[in-house]
Amino acid sequence: MSKKIVVISSSFRKEGNTQALVNEFIRGAEDAGNDVETINLRDIRLEFCRGCLHCQENEADCVINDDVNRLLDVVAGADVLAFASPLYYGSISGQLKTFLDRLNPLFVRDYNFTKVVFIGACADDSEDAFDTAIDEIWEWINCFNGVSLDSSVLACNVTDVGDIKGSYNLKYAYKVGNIIR
Ligand SMILES: Cc1cc2nc3c(=O)[nH]c(=O)nc-3n(C[C@H](O)[C@H](O)[C@H](O)COP(=O)(O)O)c2cc1C
Repeated sequence: MSKKIVVISSSFRKEGNTQALVNEFIRGAEDAGNDVETINLRDIRLEFCRGCLHCQENEADCVINDDVNRLLDVVAGADVLAFASPLYYGSISGQLKTFLDRLNPLFVRDYNFTKVVFIGACADDSEDAFDTAIDEIWEWINCFNGVSLDSSVLACNVTDVGDIKGSYNLKYAYKVGNIIR
């Protein structure tokens, strides 16, 4: 059965390494018949969470009048969420962290998603480069019952735009998308 996949892509480099992985993930997922919707954080108005907890106390929308409120139902309606980020100072990008914070209204609402995929790119060549980023994603996941990290595509040793070309991780990203049914 096909799934609804929502991809949250956080790199501001449109032609960059993270986006290249995301593109392959989407291609694989769509080839398998899934319905994919992408939220490019570079294209939306996204402010910082102000910590007022209005959303939690009132099961209400966020008090901030940017693009997030209209995206809450999109995220909540997904079966699978794919978070994509370049590694910045050992963790996820600030823009992805900001978006995760802003999903706080979902903490007290119904949601469909049960699986999360993480897609990352970094310059470092060490196996543990993504450990903190993955921990960060788990911190968010752990606040949502019944949700787990299903798979990760972690591309190391890519710095400049185009470095990802020819990487086996592009094939892997396609596969990870393609096995979702
Ligand atoms: C602000 C900033 C911080 C970065 N910090 C790290 C880091 O801690 N570790 C690392 O391996 N690469 C780091 N990088 C390099 C990027 O992760 C790398 O260039 C990646 O391929 C960028 O992905 P993109 O092409 O999708 O933008 C950093 C880059 C920037 C701009």
